[in-house]
Formats: sequence, structure tokens, C-alpha cells
Amino acid sequence: MASGEFEFSDQDFQHIRRIINEVAGISLADGKRELVYSRLSRRLRQLGLRRFEEYCTLLESGNDTAELSEFVNALTTNLTSFFREPHHFDFLAGELLPTLTRERGFANRRLRIWSAGCSTGEEPYTIAMVLRETLPAVGWDIKILATDLDSNVLATAQRGIYDWDRVKDLSEARRRRWFLKGCGAQEGQVRVAPALCDLITFRRLNLMEEWPMRGAFDIVFCRNVVIYFDKPTQQVLFDRFADRLIEQGHLFVGHSESLFKVTERFAPLGKTIYRRCI
Ligand SMILES: C[S@@+](CC[C@H](N)C(=O)[O-])C[C@H]1O[C@@H](n2cnc3c(N)ncnc32)[C@H](O)[C@@H]1O
Repeated sequence: MASGEFEFSDQDFQHIRRIINEVAGISLADGKRELVYSRLSRRLRQLGLRRFEEYCTLLESGNDTAELSEFVNALTTNLTSFFREPHHFDFLAGELLPTLTRERGFANRRLRIWSAGCSTGEEPYTIAMVLRETLPAVGWDIKILATDLDSNVLATAQRGIYDWDRVKDLSEARRRRWFLKGCGAQEGQVRVAPALCDLITFRRLNLMEEWPMRGAFDIVFCRNVVIYFDKPTQQVLFDRFADRLIEQGHLFVGHSESLFKVTERFAPLGKTIYRRCI
């Protein structure tokens, strides 16, 4: 049992693992026991519970969907940043967008991009920056869908307000062009410029559930998400992404993720970038 104010047995840990896996597809490794205890203690304290067993019973009763959402929010890992894994954005700006522009001519200047597991929004805003910087201001019909399961991070993403610290590594030119500096009570913060926000729609979406969107995507970013899922879950997910991509559509995954021996529906282009081939 983990030491602390709440009773937390091995059985409770297994129980929590089962629930988060069923709800979010997340596979918690054996070593995550302490993490689970520390992240969920706050919830037990708030609910006035003494034992994890009671908490599991509450979650499984199905009577408290709000708490189920808090539970999921507490156990997701939301690390992200602007221009994280910059080679993806170099490829987007330097290769993919110029190719699409050439191939499509003026007839089909429509671009649909999905940032799946967008966390606090830095990823879709980065994509929007690259699109605005690379494509002409008029003539393209662009939409970015940004989704996450965690309602807290999604609210932050939607607000589009960040501490200055989050943008300090961007070039001065980018900061000036794409962020508005806060003053007064907002001193030390920046707000994403409307020209980026206009391209993005934020929605709560659990990748394990039905996907209500219609229409195919040209590009899917699903980076540093499937790392938390087991192989069979990854297999199903990549298959579903392939179904939702146009022929030859592109998929970007995280630095430690690979489709090797997981699916044959994508061909690797190198550097964790894939193209749908089946
Ligand atoms: C580490 S962040 C990655 C953020 C961003 N894609 C990046 O690479 O910087 C992983 C995100 O996946 C989300 N996530 C985890 N399981 C999910 C699920 N079943 N459905 C949707 N999003 C999920 C988490 O809430 C979290 O915000």
C-alpha cells in the first residue's frame, strides 16, 4: 500500500488501471502506482473519501459522469509545446505544402487537418502558424480540427492565452506576428492572434469512441498520444486514421512512436512521418 492519507491497495491500483483503460485506452504501466496515488488523491480529498475502493465504486456506478471526466483529466499526460518536434513543421512548410500547392493547382485548394490529442493547443496553433506563413492569404479553404479527451486542457487551448514563458523560444518575428501581448492584469501573458484562431475548431473527443466528423482529412497529427496505448489499441486507431485520410494523406506521430509491425496501411517517409498507402 502506498503511504499517505488514503487507503490504496494493489487491488485498487489494478482497478484504476482497468477503468482508465476501458474509458480512454490508456495502459498504465506497473511503475505508475505512485503517480496514480498522487494524481487522484486530490479527487478523493475533494469528495471526502478515505479509500480508493470507494472512489472506484463511485466511478463504476455510472452515476457521476462529471467525476469520471475529472478522473480522466487527472490521469492524462499533457506535455506539449509550440513547434515541438520541429522537423515535422519543416517538412510541412518545405515539402508537403509546396507539393500540395503544385499538385492541386487552383482547382482544389481545400485543406483539412486534424490535431488528434491536441492538449493545451500549442500543436494546432503551430500548424496554423505554418499554414499562414507558407500559403497565400487568399484562395485556400483551410480548417484545422483540434480534439482532446481532457476537458481542462481543451479549455486552455480554446482560450488561447499562454504565459510568456511558453513562447519565449519562438523567434521575435513569430511572437510579434502571431501573439498579442497582455497588459495590466494580463501582463506576462500572450494571446494567440485571431488569424490563427480563425482556422481552428476545438472539440472534446475520445479517440476510443465514435468519431462524429464527416469528410476526409488531408493530414492527421497524432503525436505523443498512442505511446500511452497498448499495441492492439494502436492498431485499431491507426486503421481508423487510415480510413479517415484521403488517399496518400499524411500522418505525423510522436518521436517515440512507430507504425512498424503495427499497421501496413502507411508507408514511412522518415522522421515519424507516414503516408497512407492502402
Ligand atoms: C502528451 S499530450 C500530446 C500533445 C501534442 N499532441 C504534442 O505532441 O505535443 C497527449 C494528449 O493525448 C490526450 N489523450 C489521451 N488519451 C486520449 C484519448 N483516448 N482520446 C483523446 N485524447 C487522448 C491527452 O489528454 C493529452 O492531452
